[in-house]
Amino acid sequence: MNDTTSQPRNDAPAPPSALVPCTVDADGIAEVRLGRPDETVVTLTRERILALADTFAALARDPRVRGVLIAGPCPGMFCAGADINLIAAIDTPAEGAAAAAQGRQTFQLLQQLKVPVVAAIEGPCVGGALELALFCDVRVASDHAATQIGLPEVKLGIVPGFGGTQNLARLVGLPTALDLILQGKLLKPKPALKQGLIDRLVPSPRLLQAARDELQKQIAKGRKHRRRRLRGAAFWLSKTPLRALAARAARKELGKGQARFYPAPKAALELCLQAFTLPPAQGFEAEAKALGEMIATPVSKGLTRLFFLTERSKKLGKGDGARNLTRTMVVGGGVMGAGIAGLLAQKGCPVRLCDVSGSALARARARLWQDLGKRLRRRNLERHEAQAILDRMATATEWGNLRGVDLWLEAVVEDLGVKQKLIAEAIARGLPEHALIATNTSSLPVDKMAANVPNPERVVGIHFFNPPEKMPLIEVIRGPRTSDAAIATACKLAVRLGKFPIVVKDAPGFLVNRCLAPYLNEAARLLVTGTDPEAIDQAMLDFGMPMGPCRLLDEIGYDVAAKVSDVMHKAFPERMVPNPLFAAMVAAKALGSKSGGGMFAVDGKGPGPGRKVLATLREQAGAGPTASRSELHTRLLYPMIDEAYRCLDEGIVASEQDLDLGLVMGIGFPPFLGGITPFATREGLQVIVTALDSLARTVDPRFAPADGLRRRAVQ
Ligand SMILES: NC(=O)c1ccc[n+]([C@@H]2O[C@H](COP(=O)([O-])OP(=O)(O)OC[C@H]3O[C@@H](n4cnc5c(N)ncnc54)[C@H](O)[C@@H]3O)[C@@H](O)[C@H]2O)c1
Repeated sequence: MNDTTSQPRNDAPAPPSALVPCTVDADGIAEVRLGRPDETVVTLTRERILALADTFAALARDPRVRGVLIAGPCPGMFCAGADINLIAAIDTPAEGAAAAAQGRQTFQLLQQLKVPVVAAIEGPCVGGALELALFCDVRVASDHAATQIGLPEVKLGIVPGFGGTQNLARLVGLPTALDLILQGKLLKPKPALKQGLIDRLVPSPRLLQAARDELQKQIAKGRKHRRRRLRGAAFWLSKTPLRALAARAARKELGKGQARFYPAPKAALELCLQAFTLPPAQGFEAEAKALGEMIATPVSKGLTRLFFLTERSKKLGKGDGARNLTRTMVVGGGVMGAGIAGLLAQKGCPVRLCDVSGSALARARARLWQDLGKRLRRRNLERHEAQAILDRMATATEWGNLRGVDLWLEAVVEDLGVKQKLIAEAIARGLPEHALIATNTSSLPVDKMAANVPNPERVVGIHFFNPPEKMPLIEVIRGPRTSDAAIATACKLAVRLGKFPIVVKDAPGFLVNRCLAPYLNEAARLLVTGTDPEAIDQAMLDFGMPMGPCRLLDEIGYDVAAKVSDVMHKAFPERMVPNPLFAAMVAAKALGSKSGGGMFAVDGKGPGPGRKVLATLREQAGAGPTASRSELHTRLLYPMIDEAYRCLDEGIVASEQDLDLGLVMGIGFPPFLGGITPFATREGLQVIVTALDSLARTVDPRFAPADGLRRRAVQ
């Protein structure tokens, strides 16, 4: 094989960059690697796109070349798409459109080659990487576990800009393209084959040979591969005016709920339609223009910031001393323990779930089975994989032998005495010295749990949110004696479970519940003083929250809210006096969704039994007028901002980035705002301080902002 990078020839000018190694063998097969062999993550930087353009131009001039194979640099890596730094650095629509045109024109060089081009895909082939592959004549993918294929651009608030909307829509038809692009879905290789994104699927070790065979087949045919024709519904809903039906259904979805805050999916929808209504050149031009417009929106800036925050969080799992936990034990199989154990099993970790109650364990198994059933029905799990997951979760009322356990996690009732007793028992029963001792407490001091542990540096809080299978955040709680290695190990586990960890100080409410407390307390006060739950919730839905605070209280349950608000009250007696609504709802047994409804009915539609409780409290308090939209905005959001900065100043979290990630992932603070601190800055810190001062004077001193916020406001 001839390395054109190291052995330039006059008749075949060598590609000038080692960023895209290229070789041509004796059969005239050019093999282009998208990165250097030492690159474990390949992205499309500006330099790499230029190098690709030079390489493709050189191949067009090289008389030896009879076919081109495009592959990643190493097993498990094709290309992770455009470099996000490149996206983040673009500020104007014109710059964005130009960058899109440059990328797409580079990839079009492949299409213009007179010889066939085959993409050999293994590992991520997402965003710009799939757009490159879509300009190839044939796509062969391997069944490697890391293979994922799709166009997730809308998750960064942009549209695919390197030809993706046009090429994918024409390849798979409008309905499938809309389904994939508008939600930014990533497909595993099997569904990708079924949906027509790839042409062949082969076992990983055979990928390169299969791609070469495909190339030889194309060469033998003596012409470029013709794209498959759309058939059946895909044809009718793409190539005929019936496509308006597919578009209408998609538009309806995009008008609902939080989707209305995101312009990129709407723009992508129009572009996909244009793939069938405009000539290709105009479709590509429209796409580049739309990318330029989207990339400059605040939504894209917010989502891009969030992406960087998630990457930063994943790095916490690589801290010094981070160990891999392989044998785990969860004690307490209720709402949280069952979810945590099921999650561990699903992510490949053998787990023993123990509970004093056999029926709790039966419910835990049923819950896991139900989850797996859903995945089986959606076909993103094979039956033997489901069986392996079930086998990984053992359940027992007896603990058995603790030898070999390297994570012992408790999720029993929120009672310090019970938790301390169980930890002592684990040690007495021979829990190995190296094992991490973790608690899922939501309000108790982690350090108190470490009180009688001989080596307390291994005691850590791993605070999952409910439901653990779905909620993306984990607060890793550092007690005063917790070691860095224990923190790093807990973070590594969180990342392995597909979650985003943030490290928080061992203090009441940690970060999320602390910031949630003033928000939910204020919602309760507004309710009791005369504003209806619908009005409160609508104001926050219109702000971009996934759920209004009254629905959220129903979901959390008034019993839990009352408990948490007591803890917060003890810690902050002046600022966080619990509203009587919590206790009254508990007394009336109107706990929320878990017990026949709260302010709303169980399904969230229509009033619930809590309205009677509310009416009585309003009568007693002599409720006033309904709060205006702007008052709701100020009273619900500004105290939360003040609390978030207090957390920063008290070292509950180490940085604004942690605050932002924690509140987006923990309470659903609108992701398109990029976090609570960018929102506060945009709102104006001085505006916030002035509004809080005014509320402190006219409504209640609890609104008075902290010195930290005041100081920042004048800077
Ligand atoms: N529910 C939430 O939303 C949530 C969220 C985050 C954290 N947490 C925390 O998670 C923990 C568990 O909460 P939950 O909601 O799952 O409670 P739960 O009441 O649903 O479950 C607790 C389980 O512990 C079992 N248990 C009690 N004593 C035991 C013992 N000695 N040995 C073994 N099992 C025992 C019970 O049988 C029960 O199944 C608490 O510390 C809670 O603060 C809860």
